[in-house]
Amino acid sequence: MSTRTIRHLTSAELTGRRALVRVDFNVPLDAEGHVTDATRILAALPTINALLDRGAKVVLLSHLGRPKGAPDARYTLAPVARRLASVLAPRPVQFLAATVGPDAVAATHALAPGSVLLLENTRFFAGEERNDDVLSRQFAELGDVYVNDAFGAAHRAHASTAGVAKYVRPAVAGLLMERELAFLGEALDAPERPFVAVLGGSKISGKIDVIEALLPKVDRLLIGGAMACTFFRAMGLETGTSLVEPDRLDMARDLIARAGAKLVLPLDAMVASSMDDAARAHVVPRESIVAGEAMFDIGPASITRFAQEVSGARTVLWNGPMGVFEKPPFDKGTRAIAEAMVRATDAGATTIVGGGDSAAAIAEAGLESRLTHISTGGGASLEFLEGKVLPGVAALDQE
Ligand code: 3PG
Repeated sequence: MSTRTIRHLTSAELTGRRALVRVDFNVPLDAEGHVTDATRILAALPTINALLDRGAKVVLLSHLGRPKGAPDARYTLAPVARRLASVLAPRPVQFLAATVGPDAVAATHALAPGSVLLLENTRFFAGEERNDDVLSRQFAELGDVYVNDAFGAAHRAHASTAGVAKYVRPAVAGLLMERELAFLGEALDAPERPFVAVLGGSKISGKIDVIEALLPKVDRLLIGGAMACTFFRAMGLETGTSLVEPDRLDMARDLIARAGAKLVLPLDAMVASSMDDAARAHVVPRESIVAGEAMFDIGPASITRFAQEVSGARTVLWNGPMGVFEKPPFDKGTRAIAEAMVRATDAGATTIVGGGDSAAAIAEAGLESRLTHISTGGGASLEFLEGKVLPGVAALDQE
């Protein structure tokens, strides 16, 4: 079964009609309210433009941040509307400081075909996160067809991501959603081999379901980041003051035993007495981490090994940094993985990055355009990789 997309919509369903599109414009803003990373806005453009080109009136819904179910000026989408207008120009973009109700509904009808209306934050209503039926019906009054392009919020069963689809049909995926599902789903279900997954980040507890889901599929599973220290401790090694999850040691031992040669752990570590003691950071073999020091990055021998595995792969999935990549010199491991992924891509491999920190690291290195796919979803990409059904996808028409 596959999810229907806007490609399946007929002209009769779109021309002159209101396409209610849920996007994920949950973007970072600076203190003055400027959008500091427009990736998610740009990622929604193919869907918005495709609908406009087909003569639809595009009505956009999104959440921003985590307001507590009531209007909160800190989370208005007004600055996002300004940014959207600048990237869509000369196409007109209107912003309305209402989300549902008579004014909002009237504005959707008054919209000229080929133009865009962004409504205010869906989380200004308590019913949004509760997936409230009354609010879902109110959202449904805003469109004649429903399009979910908010992959980043597809793991949330909210009124604007799931409930609304009960009351507007057709309900289909946008082009970003289609792309995310293709790369994080189909591409990894039948990967070209060797298939190498690189996982990092601080906690094994947050990644255990992904590890379990990937283990049967991958040829190699490379684990870096502080997460590796829980494995080191499980192997009986000294880990100093490194972040270790003592309640996950049995889990780590069991994984080491089951994974066998598939599991590749760092051979060495960049350690220091604290993250701020970069001047005295140094490399030690993993057996030589001492009391009073902690691992903040993988070391050069690990980089060589990991980069070899990545460069030789035909499919690579990466999620989670190898170290504290915001703080040089602890950024070397993460950078090296990003560069190895670029080499793999250039050699014809499919390279996929789960959202969140690793996507941010790729952007910081200016390598976004050099990989096959970088997910716009953080939590959503993890849940999808874990094999969970995403409510925002399940609510759409299937064929
Ligand atoms: C995200 O940024 O991961 C999505 O927009 C979902 O946001 P949330 O975690 O606040 O639901």
